[in-house]
Amino acid sequence: MNLFKQRVADLVQSALANMGAGEDAVGPVLELVEIPPDEKLGDFAVPCFAFARTLRRSPVQIAEEIVAQADRPPWLTHIKAVKGYVNVKLHRGHVAQHVLGDILRAGEAYGSREPNGRTVVIDYSSPNIAKPFSLGHIRSTVIGESLARIFAHQGYRVVRINHLGDWGTQFGRVIGGYVRWADHDRLEKEPIKELFRLYVKFHEEAEKDPALEDEARDWFRRMEEGDPVALALWRRFRELSLLELERTYARLGIRFDDYTGESAYNDVSDIIEKLRALGLLKESQGAQVVELGDDIPPCLITKSDGTTLYATRDIAAAIRRQEQYNFDLAFYVVDSRQSLHFKQVFGVLERMGYEWASGMEHIPFGTLQFGDEIMSTRKGNVIFLEDVLNEAVTRVKQIIAERNPSLKNADEVAEAVGVGAVIFNDLVHNRIKDISFQWEDVLNFDGDTGPYVQYTHARACSVLRRADEQGARPMSDGFDRLEWEDSEMRLVRLLGRFGETVDAAAKGREPSTVARYVLDLAQAFNGFYHSNRILGSERQAERLALTDAVRQVLANGLRLLAMEAPPEM
Ligand code: ARG
Repeated sequence: MNLFKQRVADLVQSALANMGAGEDAVGPVLELVEIPPDEKLGDFAVPCFAFARTLRRSPVQIAEEIVAQADRPPWLTHIKAVKGYVNVKLHRGHVAQHVLGDILRAGEAYGSREPNGRTVVIDYSSPNIAKPFSLGHIRSTVIGESLARIFAHQGYRVVRINHLGDWGTQFGRVIGGYVRWADHDRLEKEPIKELFRLYVKFHEEAEKDPALEDEARDWFRRMEEGDPVALALWRRFRELSLLELERTYARLGIRFDDYTGESAYNDVSDIIEKLRALGLLKESQGAQVVELGDDIPPCLITKSDGTTLYATRDIAAAIRRQEQYNFDLAFYVVDSRQSLHFKQVFGVLERMGYEWASGMEHIPFGTLQFGDEIMSTRKGNVIFLEDVLNEAVTRVKQIIAERNPSLKNADEVAEAVGVGAVIFNDLVHNRIKDISFQWEDVLNFDGDTGPYVQYTHARACSVLRRADEQGARPMSDGFDRLEWEDSEMRLVRLLGRFGETVDAAAKGREPSTVARYVLDLAQAFNGFYHSNRILGSERQAERLALTDAVRQVLANGLRLLAMEAPPEM
């Protein structure tokens, strides 16, 4: 409906200009246009309170004058002044023609924008190797991928970066465990679990025998010093883990462009030199820090033994990314507990004089709790993402076997629905909220869930298939010449809001905006389906067109959430 919103704004803007209040005086009307709370009031409303000062009249009077002044184009059926608002109703046929015509024409691209020449690099998922990729990281993975798709849809060039946690003292423990207890077969088959088992076992044994911790420290020191044995082990762990990670990412439909992890940023001598030359480096108890004013604690750059820190590596990574990708925006989709870390990193980059630092953003999110269990890495009672996906798929297989035993490709569908259910549960809430994971909620085919939306999409597909079998064709043009019913128009309007919804999701960096939209659309379509005939009705052709448009927009929305849309389930 962006087109009509713009037209309404233009209409009011030129009426105001005729009344002696040009755009320079009252500002752009477009920003004021609202959607009235009650659809009976109209499709759009423009509040006139902001014009009162310039025009020296009451908003009530101004609204009336605007209505008297305004043109009456054919796409408008009604323009009325109500208590300081200008309410506008659109011609139903014109709206339907515009919306349905657009969807038919653009298909997958419906709601997207032209390339805008801007680049966004998105740092997400970024798990730590040798620690498990758990439900804690799934949030970053899913939110990050959805944002990547939303921004690509908005016309950005998107670079997907996985800043692997592939360096750190945990590797000392893992190597220590590996040389004692490695199960080589399992390491090939399930590297992430085996490495984690070694890590946990080492930790447990070290509680009994503290000398083990010295050994772990020694292994990590050897890594830092470039010892070939230690490095070869580390490299093998990294490669095996990456292979397994990529298998999981493939199930989620994700492909990273860049896997440069923390290990690539150990040599930061040039950054230290630059900080020193700028006079930013201060010594504090043997460590080097950059002070960031009164509100934020100083950022630690090197430890007293000269080794670098998480923040130092992020500073180096940001500079490399700017050189390599020349980004306009850089997102970090990371747990809200790291807010201070990113404030410090961005603060240091700003003080170094990098103007592009203003395009850096931490995109935080809340925690994920699985049933009653809270995750803790050390103890080993963790939940592996791979296991969650498998469990979801197994459960969906059972549900499908009950609901639709004759379904072809049942395995493929179960994969799409099981994985989709896990993703949707994560994306349907505002990202900053803490969320919980309960199987009954996540997989409920009638709840606010992924399966529900996918099922609705499949229902639309099935109506279209049956129509096709009967030789019934959806209408493809001339929508403006029809009389549209209320229940149909409700769907048309909702379909027309898809583009604005994606705009809002991008603006707020908030995939839940899209998730809630597809839920609304699915509910609206199901409501329509239950109270109206489609096949065999006198309005069959236009209702089939509407069904096809719903199918397309649900599929587009699901794609932005990194979910599949199976045509049958
Ligand atoms: N590996 C880190 C962790 O699991 C997340 C890394 C996020 N990205 C970054 N550039 N710091 O806590």
